[in-house]
Amino acid sequence: MQETYLVELKNITKRFPGVTANDKVNFNVRKGEIHVLLGENGSGKSTLMSILSGLYRPDEGEIIVRGIKMVFRSPRNAISAGIGMVHQHFKLIDSFSVAENVILGDDRTAPVLNIKDVENNLAQLSARYGLDINPSSMVWQLSVGEKQRVEIVKMLYRGSQVLILDEPTAVLTPQEADKLFRNLREMAGTGRGIVVITHKLNEVMEIADRVTVLRRGKAVATLERGQFNRTDLAWLMVGQDVVLQNKKKSPPGQRKVLELKGVGCLNDLGRNCLQDVSFTVHQGEIFGIAGVAGNGQRELAEVIAGLRRATEGSIIVNGTDITGFSPRRVIDHGVALVPEDRLGTGLIPNMGAVDNLVLKDYRRREMSRGPFLNRRKAYEKVKQLVNRFEIKLSSLDAPVKLMSGGNLQRLLLAREITSNPKLLIAVYPVRGLDIKATEAVHNLLLEQRERGMAILLISEDLEEIFKLSDRIGVLCGGRITGIIPSEMTDIEEIGLLMMGGTGEMVL
Ligand SMILES: Nc1ncnc2c1ncn2[C@@H]1O[C@H](COP(=O)(O)OP(=O)(O)O)[C@@H](O)[C@H]1O
Ligand SMILES: [Mg+2]
Repeated sequence: MQETYLVELKNITKRFPGVTANDKVNFNVRKGEIHVLLGENGSGKSTLMSILSGLYRPDEGEIIVRGIKMVFRSPRNAISAGIGMVHQHFKLIDSFSVAENVILGDDRTAPVLNIKDVENNLAQLSARYGLDINPSSMVWQLSVGEKQRVEIVKMLYRGSQVLILDEPTAVLTPQEADKLFRNLREMAGTGRGIVVITHKLNEVMEIADRVTVLRRGKAVATLERGQFNRTDLAWLMVGQDVVLQNKKKSPPGQRKVLELKGVGCLNDLGRNCLQDVSFTVHQGEIFGIAGVAGNGQRELAEVIAGLRRATEGSIIVNGTDITGFSPRRVIDHGVALVPEDRLGTGLIPNMGAVDNLVLKDYRRREMSRGPFLNRRKAYEKVKQLVNRFEIKLSSLDAPVKLMSGGNLQRLLLAREITSNPKLLIAVYPVRGLDIKATEAVHNLLLEQRERGMAILLISEDLEEIFKLSDRIGVLCGGRITGIIPSEMTDIEEIGLLMMGGTGEMVL
């Protein structure tokens, strides 16, 4: 007999421009289980659950609720079908009370409603599941953990039988996380199905009755408790089908181009984000930073580029201590950054290739005539670059936002590489690119390495890290948990360091 699930996703495919976020994914939820959806950052977890909760429509595939095929046009539809999701960013209104937030946007709310009844109802739910919520509190008074519990109680109030939580522990202390897991177990105990999204192995080991692993948009395994251990899961997550190609020719030089000594910094929320980070990148070396995104990678790039202040330690480029230098002075000392967000901070979307390519050059005399750009010279230079880097353009003046991801990235790399930096920082350089474009960008980086450039490569893709790097440093929780020459390590060891270092791992 075929099992009837609370919900079932069949062959779900969802494409975004340039990326297949979900590729024929099957996933289901049983009554009373905690089902963990595990995967690296960008593997498609949030997308899949946003489809289940009615936020996105799939391009292909079916959603089946208790045996009946459904089409969700909005989260409202999913909620009526008993499916509720708590997103990573909460959607509460600060100036309203908990109870007011809960009834806000609830279809079933009677025109004349008694807030006291709602409050009583919420108080009962809160007590039943140990959520510790005061329904009359104002949301602005609540901690992050409390806000999360309000989102949960809101979904319970609306009758969710399937409750989805997207990386719920990301905002919690370990103690709060333990408490949340007990609450979730309690809810599963009443026959609900709970889906927890995470990239943390210890959470899977702690709470999962079943786990489904996503890798690059594909569900690579669904396993029952007892069928999995940490090592298997790490392998499944990061991919065992990695062909290690070594395209590097000459060994790196001895000269230190970049040296970080005990560097620390704060993130945008003012919390400690990098701590005691020390490493060296040599001339002609690619130093890869591996790690699950959000462990300080972006901040690391920014702190070196002078875009973020180091709160401790020092940063030395070619023997000069550049700690505290302005971004402009850092550039003048030979540092180039290819940022994560190409159109956000790297290039100006509405300007053409010429303007984007000479943007950083405009101060140089050869490009300017008095205060004005020498457009003829600029065109010549850009034409050369476009040829050399095989950038495809409809015209040199067409807004660069119309270019494909691969061409944009080549344009950006062309600009940075031709500025002849001593150190190039490349953050997720092939994110969103197809295989051909990826290959082209990789070759560009390897070429520069051969020419003696020092390259700091930040990537979540271990295949890329192994292919390009001479040495690999693993960043986890803002600390370097290991630095290993790439030929002396393997995906498994790096994968485990990414999950928190050997100290935490019990194998
Ligand atoms: N709204 C969107 N538009 C375009 N691309 C997206 C969007 N949401 C996600 N993606 C892309 O889809 C892939 C999967 O993303 P996501 O589901 O957020 O992964 P995860 O939750 O596992 O980190 C990523 O490559 C991401 O950049
Ligand atoms: Mg996500």
